[in-house]
Amino acid sequence: MAAADQLDQGRAVVETAAIRPPADRRRTVSLFSRLRTAQGQANPFPVYAELRSRGEVAAAPWGGYLLTGFDVCDRVLRSRDWLEPDSRWREQQGSGTRWTAPSSREMSRTLPALNPPEHTWVRRAAGMFDRSSLDQLRGPVARFTGRSLDTLAERLHDGEADFNALVSEELPVAVIGHWLGLPTADHARLRELTHDQVFTQELLPSASQLALSDAATAELRTYFTDLVRERRARPGDDPVSRWLAVWDTLESDRDKADEAVYFLALFVLLAALETTATLLSTMTLLLLDHPRQWQRLVLQPDLVPAAVEESLRYDPPTHVISRVSARDCVLGGVDIRKDEMVHLLVGAAHRDPARHPDPELFNLHRKPGHLAFSGGAHYCLGAPLARMEAQTLLHQLVTRFPRLTLVRRPTWAPRVAFRRLLNLDVTLV
Ligand code: HEM
Repeated sequence: MAAADQLDQGRAVVETAAIRPPADRRRTVSLFSRLRTAQGQANPFPVYAELRSRGEVAAAPWGGYLLTGFDVCDRVLRSRDWLEPDSRWREQQGSGTRWTAPSSREMSRTLPALNPPEHTWVRRAAGMFDRSSLDQLRGPVARFTGRSLDTLAERLHDGEADFNALVSEELPVAVIGHWLGLPTADHARLRELTHDQVFTQELLPSASQLALSDAATAELRTYFTDLVRERRARPGDDPVSRWLAVWDTLESDRDKADEAVYFLALFVLLAALETTATLLSTMTLLLLDHPRQWQRLVLQPDLVPAAVEESLRYDPPTHVISRVSARDCVLGGVDIRKDEMVHLLVGAAHRDPARHPDPELFNLHRKPGHLAFSGGAHYCLGAPLARMEAQTLLHQLVTRFPRLTLVRRPTWAPRVAFRRLLNLDVTLV
């Protein structure tokens, strides 16, 4: 049985009884339960600090290891000795586990779940955002941002408004929908499906969350295979048509080429929506929570890129990245066997005092350095676009709404790996 399923069903304790004292294991299980409470979601960092106090590499109660140190996480991401949990690894975990759920099997065929050599050529074929394609998106991103801020302004006229719903959730789907050429009428449904699909990528999904993810994955498969079929029949000037043209040069079997493009289009949508929405809301929340930094940005908008980077460090959209060991090894003084999993607690690593002095301080003048977009071979291909969206939004925000303020504390969905704000209620003072 997979590690996550064990914890899910409250049986993690049995497997690891020989390794760690029961009180210690119970404390770790209860720490993770705290992460799912409203308070734990609002501020998971004390939990991370407690985990770090047990060493930068600590055994997880459900098997595998938790990594909280910045350097050790960075090393794992950059090393060839650590692999993605790919389809071979997932099958090995046995049937009936989260890793063999239909949604997990589907994810195992997407780019971030591939290992070399396949990963290398699929990534190369994906291309994604070079300077000229980014330049082409600059105008639309500014326009969509302006439009969502117009709606915000209208609502603020009457009092308060939910920034998360009106801006953060709208902008990423408008941008990626425009880029992929998806009908506007489909955007809301695709966004809902993404919220459900992401559960299969969570740290410890429950059976009901996996069922939601399986259903969303099936609907997304239909949507994107239809899209690929349409673009095959009527190619246009869009990424899906371009990927088809590239794959036709690499793969003589048309069905295989179509399937490769389907997996790419599916993953791009999944990768682009929640993560970017979370960044937009978190960044705004952090700045409203730090009025002096906000005022500084109002007077000095050239600090906008630094504010985006510090937000990505302070509370990144993705708090956990997982890898498995390619061979028996020693990491941070701990013996790890081939195929064992490590969870890189990126949110914790970003607050590692060995990397960042005064890590709890939200500081726009910090030396850069974060793992929000991962690192090494799987470094996020959408990072330039996510940065462009966040910087464009922040520029327009401080210019148009210098008196923006928070009405009440927001709430978060009870996740561990993928942060998600449920609201961000703001007004003007
Ligand atoms: C703030 C927004 C974003 C964050 C925090 C983020 C984060 C990440 C992370 C952590 C990974 C690596 C996972 C791993 O190492 O296993 C990743 C991979 C990836 N992301 Fe992003 N992402 C964001 C936005 C986007 C956008 C907008 C796109 C596309 C338009 C995108 C496309 C991808 C792709 C294709 C990969 C797979 C790369 C590979 O495995 O080689 N991401 N992202």
